[in-house]
Amino acid sequence: MSNQIEHVLEETRFFEPPAAFASQAAIGTREEYDRLYKQSIDDPETFWGNVASELHWFKKWDRVRNAENRPFYKWFEGGKTNLSYNCVDRHLDSARKNKAAIIWEGEPGDQVILTYQELHQRVCLAANGLKKLGVKKGDRVAIYMPMIPELAIAMLACARIGAIHSIIFGGFSANAIVDRVQDADCTTIITADGGWRRGSVVDLKVAVDEAAPKCPTVKNVLVVKRTNTAVTMAEGRDHWWHEVMASVDANCPAEPLDAEDPLYILYTSGSTGKPKGILHSTGGYMVGTYVTSKYIFDLREEDTYWCTADIGWVTGHSYIVYGILANGATTVMYEGAPNQPGPDRFWQIVDKYKVNIFYTAPTAIRAFAKWGDQHPAKYDLSSLRLLGTVGEPINPEAWMWYHRNIGRERCPIVDTWWQTETGAIMITTLPGVMSAKPGSAGLPFFGVKPAIVSEEGEDVDAGHSGLLVVKEPWPSMLRTLYGDDARYKEVYWSKFEKQGWYLTGDGAFCDKNGYYMIIGRLDDVINVSGHRLGTMEIESALVSSPLVAEAAVVGFPHDLKGQGICAFVSVPTGMEVTEADKEKLREHVAHEIGAIAKPDQIRFTDSLPKTRSGKIMRRLLRDIAAGNETKQDTTTLEDFGILAKLREDAES
Ligand code: PRX
Repeated sequence: MSNQIEHVLEETRFFEPPAAFASQAAIGTREEYDRLYKQSIDDPETFWGNVASELHWFKKWDRVRNAENRPFYKWFEGGKTNLSYNCVDRHLDSARKNKAAIIWEGEPGDQVILTYQELHQRVCLAANGLKKLGVKKGDRVAIYMPMIPELAIAMLACARIGAIHSIIFGGFSANAIVDRVQDADCTTIITADGGWRRGSVVDLKVAVDEAAPKCPTVKNVLVVKRTNTAVTMAEGRDHWWHEVMASVDANCPAEPLDAEDPLYILYTSGSTGKPKGILHSTGGYMVGTYVTSKYIFDLREEDTYWCTADIGWVTGHSYIVYGILANGATTVMYEGAPNQPGPDRFWQIVDKYKVNIFYTAPTAIRAFAKWGDQHPAKYDLSSLRLLGTVGEPINPEAWMWYHRNIGRERCPIVDTWWQTETGAIMITTLPGVMSAKPGSAGLPFFGVKPAIVSEEGEDVDAGHSGLLVVKEPWPSMLRTLYGDDARYKEVYWSKFEKQGWYLTGDGAFCDKNGYYMIIGRLDDVINVSGHRLGTMEIESALVSSPLVAEAAVVGFPHDLKGQGICAFVSVPTGMEVTEADKEKLREHVAHEIGAIAKPDQIRFTDSLPKTRSGKIMRRLLRDIAAGNETKQDTTTLEDFGILAKLREDAES
């Protein structure tokens, strides 16, 4: 990590916003940013009230911000609105009604384009379909779907009637579905027969069939026909989406909801225990995703915008669906893998739909760079005017590759720092105003008051790393962890309880211009390809195998994924293990959590190095996994023992 810090400190390249971009940008001068930022911090009521007024409210709020019961903040209290209405109906009384809301491309090359009017019709049908299955306001609906238009429609249908959706990434396993569905007592699961991924069908319905019987609260399963795969339909429980939609009325007015009515739950990994159900509410999340999309992506009426994330992650929630549609823009959705049928698929899509704004993850950029410059070079990418990245720190080399080969040195790049918990982008460079610095996220967005502090809460000087905190609440912040207020307080607010600061869990530092550079997680969370995985979860999955006595999982630097997963596994006494068992364990983790959590490396040992108090020496294991212990042969247990002892001796 220290190498990385030095490297970035040496980074002196700044890329000014292109003049042509700046002259047309929604925020086009630094003075304007400074003025609005100051207002958003000094007088959040006026700033956020103005932003919220750009959207539709059935009833105006009584109070913009209520901080009486910290950390249970409320925003736009007393206001009544509906996010589905703001994403769809709001655009029906203008020329936008016949504009493409969603341009979708399936992996096999099929295509669906839905105008705002068509989207409205489909969302109303789906909302009535859910009602027909007995779904009511406040009920939890799990969504386990491929990246097809019905996924966005299902979200908007839930939001329309006030049902709380909980989207489970389609790459997770049946066990992960069980945990999440049980935690939120979901009554309904929406899924599909399958989805296309790298030329094969992912059997989503099979996973739901395995999970649903273990979830007694689930009464109905709604199944979209996507791949025409043969599936079994449980009598009374399972219903075909198209049959239900054919039997309901097309008129479903959006329910006026309280600004603080919950919108969705999205599970994310923490350092301990089971995944945390991040709860977002309606009004604040709507305002936050709307305004960040508008200014950071500089969305314009004629823009075609494409975010390559999966909607199973927060990026897809906020910046494929809600924030983008709330602005009335056109959002592109692609179902499949970036290298199917060939490594040029993304550039083909950009060229075909004349995409203007492209938002992806550093891990994808590193893969593109590895696949070669010749793939994007074949395409006309001149429609692009803005690029973005999210999910993990971007290494300056990957940034430069993106700038040259995709942006063709014309497009600003916004590196956006945020989290599932924050709901919306918090730190970035506004593209028409601020110069970008490769590897650095940038400056705070409106209303965001970050700081870098020491463990004791002291401000840390520029150039020195510390804990990234946020000192004031913001509208799109999480409201709690579903069903667990105590854990919400503990995880995010207990460290700086007196000061009332939000703990992000990230380490970061600022340069002398105030640009934030994110170093990475400080807790036991690994960021694999921009996705958060808790080491605890993977360890629990491992120890549920009879081959494992104890397991310690750590991250290590990985060229493509950012971080890879290394599992140190001690086996029960007397058990002989072979190379083949490593693959068995990898499969076991895939079965328990999903393929994304498969360890890249498994190292068998007879015991794990521990401190005298019995704590696993993770720092030592991290060094070993990263190959930093070059002086020692670390492949055997004895060496672990020696290393551990050496380390203990050095520390005591
Ligand atoms: O460590 C930070 C990293 O991803 C974490 C949040 O992960 P998640 O909730 O899954 O949301 C990812 C998409 C918003 C953060 O705590 N992270 C996210 N964006 C960046 C980043 N690290 C550096 N630079 C970023 N732009």
